[in-house]
This record gives sequence, structure tokens and C-alpha cells, in this order.
Amino acid sequence: MSEQPPPHIARLIPRLELTGTERILELGAAPGVAVAAIGPQLTGDGHLTALDRSAVGVRRIRERNRALVDAGRVSVVEQDLTTLAPEPPGRFDLIFASNVNVFWTHPRKANVDVLAALLAPGGRLRLFYGYGPGDGAGSGRDTGSLVAATLHDCAALTTVTVDDAGPTLQVSAAQKG
Ligand SMILES: C[S@@+](CC[C@H](N)C(=O)[O-])C[C@H]1O[C@@H](n2cnc3c(N)ncnc32)[C@H](O)[C@@H]1O
Repeated sequence: MSEQPPPHIARLIPRLELTGTERILELGAAPGVAVAAIGPQLTGDGHLTALDRSAVGVRRIRERNRALVDAGRVSVVEQDLTTLAPEPPGRFDLIFASNVNVFWTHPRKANVDVLAALLAPGGRLRLFYGYGPGDGAGSGRDTGSLVAATLHDCAALTTVTVDDAGPTLQVSAAQKG
């Protein structure tokens, strides 16, 4: 029987608006629960690269998603996103992350210019925060504004929006193309 994703992951999956054929990069993907939920939806050229800087985390992603990795639907990469290179450019239609804090804690390190370069023209960047009701936008700081400011600083991104209406905070942008 397939594993049920935790609620914060179950909430974000529909907000990715997947057709299944996207080339996707998930940042901070350990322990691989979003990978397990998205992988079976992929079809055609659809592919998911799951990146995390933690060796233990990467092992957990691989263990949880062995069949998807073996089938070539999922690649797992041990890498710090702050030192990611923009090679080859334009290789993803969607980059997303859940609860990866560098975008508001260390905006200059967040490597947003490289993430934008990795997106295909019109490609989407979606960043999610929060684990449950009252946790996303309401933890005493305005995470949405801080993350949006980080994305606004990148000339290659456009249409930066913050959706803090629900239990999951979502900050989105698109590659200018
Ligand atoms: C708080 S956990 C969130 C895990 C999962 N995305 C979720 O929402 O349940 C943050 C994850 O992002 C990873 N991470 C944090 N900063 C990172 C960075 N600079 N580069 C790559 N991975 C990072 C951590 O190793 C950890 O697995």
C-alpha cells in the first residue's frame, strides 16, 4: 500500500499544478515524502530531481523511493543549494521547496539567480512554509514578505506572489523567459 504523505506535503502537492510531464527540482527534499507522492504522477518525460545537503537525508530519499529511482523517474542529489551551479541552464520546468529557510534567513546565499537560470523560460519557482494551521504565516515574523523580497532581487524572475491565506504559506515566481 502506498504511503500517505504528511498533511503539510499533502496540502502543497495540488498547489504545484502538475500535468505529470514536468522536469522538476525539489530543494531540501529529505526524507523524500513529497518525492513519493509526486513520483507516481509522472508520465512521459516527467522527471523529479530530489536535492538535499544532508547525506542521511539523501539516503532516506533513496530508500523511500527506490522503485522510482530504479525506474529512472527520480534522481537523488546530495548538494547544498547555496553552491548549486546553473548547469545546464533551462533544465527544469518547476523548482519547489518546503520549509527550506535559507530564502528568508540568508537571502544572499539562497542562490536565486542560479535557480532562475536552471528554470526553462516561463518555468515556475514555488516555496512553501509551515507544517500546520497557524504555522505558515503566523509565527511572529512575516516570512512571506522576507521570501518575496529575496525573489524580487532576482532580475530573471517575475510575477512574485505571496499566498498566506491557508495553513501553508506559498511564495511563487516565474522565470521571465
Ligand atoms: C526543515 S526540513 C524540511 C523537509 C521537507 N521539505 C518538509 O517540508 O517536510 C529542511 C530540509 O532542507 C534541507 N536543507 C536545508 N538547507 C539546505 C540547503 N542549503 N541545501 C540543500 N538542502 C538544504 C535539510 O537538510 C532538510 O532536509
